[in-house]
Amino acid sequence: MKFQEIIKDVYYCGLNDTERPIFDELIPLEHGTSYNSYLIKGLEKVAIIDSMYPPMIDEYFKNLDENGVTKVDYIIANHGEQDHSGALPRLLEKYPEAMVVTNATCKGNLISMLHLDENRIMIVAAGDELSLGNKTLSFTPAPNVHWPDTMFTYIKEDKLLFTCDFLGAHYTFDDVIAKPSEELTKSAKRYYAEIMMPFRVMCKKYLQVIKEMDVEIILPSHGPVYKDPKYILDLYSDWTSDLGKNLVALPYVSMYGSTKEMIEYLSEKLNKKGIDTVKYDIIRGDLGDLAMTLIDATTIVMGTSMVLAGPHPASVNIAYLASVLKPKAKFASFVGSYGWGGKLFDILGELLAKLKLDIIEPVQVKGKLTKEDYSKLDIMVEAIVEKHKSVGLL
Ligand code: FEO
Repeated sequence: MKFQEIIKDVYYCGLNDTERPIFDELIPLEHGTSYNSYLIKGLEKVAIIDSMYPPMIDEYFKNLDENGVTKVDYIIANHGEQDHSGALPRLLEKYPEAMVVTNATCKGNLISMLHLDENRIMIVAAGDELSLGNKTLSFTPAPNVHWPDTMFTYIKEDKLLFTCDFLGAHYTFDDVIAKPSEELTKSAKRYYAEIMMPFRVMCKKYLQVIKEMDVEIILPSHGPVYKDPKYILDLYSDWTSDLGKNLVALPYVSMYGSTKEMIEYLSEKLNKKGIDTVKYDIIRGDLGDLAMTLIDATTIVMGTSMVLAGPHPASVNIAYLASVLKPKAKFASFVGSYGWGGKLFDILGELLAKLKLDIIEPVQVKGKLTKEDYSKLDIMVEAIVEKHKSVGLL
């Protein structure tokens, strides 16, 4: 496959993975993903930026050969995770004169995870420059967007910024240049939810760093290249903002219908009060959809049936997921029904405690709902309205 030229002497040499159904064995992919790699042909030196996911190395190498890449001087490793670094051991064999260029943290990861020879690794720090002749690479460590070893690489003369996983999307394409669409926005949002949301504060910091740089093209490690950086930067400004939207997330699991009835009642009443809701069936839903809702939600109300004197295990899984994704929500509560007894919300509350949410009085019912139970839900609705007013959403 012929490499796509992004600007003169800068090529896309990555690959689409349209077959991959799920990422990190966690979030379903609607469009597969791409593993981006870039070839920079300087007048004196040739560099590759990020490499390839191990199962696709043979195809990657075939393309390098077909495009006449016979000598590589530098392989820039912006990050040690194997979807980008997995080809390094074989690349160093293929190009015996090449040096891996990375930061000290990533060097440690590459040696411990991939057993690279440390003599083949050159360390760079913030602001260091590497000349390819007519193109100068400079480096900006960006720890925790999303690994401690992440860094950005910038071509000064061309104002190109290679942001590694940051600003990426699980998306595949024929033309590597992004064409803004609802579909692309959704893929980038789904990607942000799983990969970047846990590091929202650092994302916000490095978003600002990028806005203060002179950048004409953003080239991430997954998804398309942005010749209009504003598109992806504006999306990230929204997603990383401190305050969520006037939205309540309602994930639930319901065995005999009472919990679902509570969720539907809450949704209808909240909507009437001018608050948006997203109901999410924990058993049948797509985790990516829930993760995207958590980017925006200001309140989370979890619904669960009781199984064996505790919350349904599927709801525990969701509470744990929320605790590690670290959404920006400020308020939470629980609803659910039980048959013979037990503790319905304790474990869920413990899991969400890390998020330091302001907890609204939960509602627990035995079997089918009574009039009194509906009144308790009305009180919960009023409490949510007041909370949203308190942060300026109503
Ligand atoms: Fe796409 Fe953190 O690897």
